[in-house]
Amino acid sequence: LKLCSVVGARPQFVKAGAVAKAMAGSGIDDVLIHTGQHYDFNMSEVFFRELDLAPPAHNLGVGSGSHAVQTARMLEGLELLFERERPDAVLVYGDTNSTLAATLAAVKLGIPVAHVEAGLRSFNRTMPEEINRTVADSVCDLLFAPTVEAMEQLRREGQPEERIRLSGDVMYDAALMTADLARRQSSILDRLGLAEKGFLLATIHRAENTDDPRRLRVLIGALELAAEALPVVLPLHPRTRAALDRLGILQKAARRLKLIEPVGFIDMVRLEMAARTIATDSGGVQKEAFFYRVPCCVLRNETEWRELLEAGWNRLLPPDDDPRAMAAELLAERPAGRDITPYGKGDAGRIIVETLLDRYGRRSRA
Ligand code: UD1
Ligand code: UDP
Repeated sequence: LKLCSVVGARPQFVKAGAVAKAMAGSGIDDVLIHTGQHYDFNMSEVFFRELDLAPPAHNLGVGSGSHAVQTARMLEGLELLFERERPDAVLVYGDTNSTLAATLAAVKLGIPVAHVEAGLRSFNRTMPEEINRTVADSVCDLLFAPTVEAMEQLRREGQPEERIRLSGDVMYDAALMTADLARRQSSILDRLGLAEKGFLLATIHRAENTDDPRRLRVLIGALELAAEALPVVLPLHPRTRAALDRLGILQKAARRLKLIEPVGFIDMVRLEMAARTIATDSGGVQKEAFFYRVPCCVLRNETEWRELLEAGWNRLLPPDDDPRAMAAELLAERPAGRDITPYGKGDAGRIIVETLLDRYGRRSRA
């Protein structure tokens, strides 16, 4: 079986890292393609190093741009590579522009596409990710649902049973693989002078928060108020750094919060495990909070990962309120949620690899 796996943005390196571990020794010839959507060392290469992910066979180096420009560059580059590599199938992850471009380029060449993390919906069509994932799911050949809810959503959308597989969530695999490593190897708590359960960890990068000055001001204001009671660590996505700079509030925030560069995965896991509370608009970090049983405020109006709200682990805290009320919520002590296991057994990678082999392994090569 010859595959082309396509990645491009930070969460996709984490997901592909988990699947690559399961692929080792399977006999699959996987050609890893990096679109270059993320390119700073600490947004890209650090993950390949820490997750033992082989360097990509190809890097398209598309870089940043508007949605159309970025996606168009990827489409052109990926079409050429798929024609040259002639894989039996293409494997894509999540909901970024890299996911969308790889899916479209492949299906138009008649190459089947398998989608890891299919069936998630926020039902908010102003979100670029919602467009990317609904378009991708609608044309993919194989849909790996991370949860029963995602599987049922695909059924409701009329996807035939033979396309859907309940795999569990590869991010849970990644979390299990990394927990001990993070405890043993990361020195980030010492480096930042942080005590176990003595700080709040925040991440912000979602367009709806960074590109709306009012929301971003409320959010940063709330974190600054919370920081009067508890240190707040904010590894800053480059998009958010640029937005704070544009608004002229970066320096003030840097005086009150522990603003740090994006960290590698091992340090991130260590921070997550030790945080008293996590506040985030990230899809991945919302779930990692639950994997380490840390209460989490989701800085959005809705989420794809509703089971964590229902079980009482996470709660929505959209930054459209006043900063004082938000800060109080961020600091509130909360009981643990219900014990649930929606993301499988940590063997999603293995299920994905076996399904790919069954489905495409015996195809005669075109
Ligand atoms: C992208 C994904 C989002 C995902 C996120 C993970 C899309 C539409 N969005 O959002 O779903 O949650 O990645 O982090 O695909 N930049 C740098 N260096 C980098 C990368 C980005 O400076 O290595 C800056 C650039 O100014 C760029 C901006 O960040 O314009 C946004 O990057 P982009 O990849 O377009 O979107 P993200 O917000 O990262
Ligand atoms: N992450 C990291 N360092 C950081 C911020 C996030 O390693 O400074 C990891 C995080 O633990 C998770 C993944 O990146 O595994 C999530 O990526 P991101 O929040 O950028 O994207 P999303 O999941 O929202 O698409």
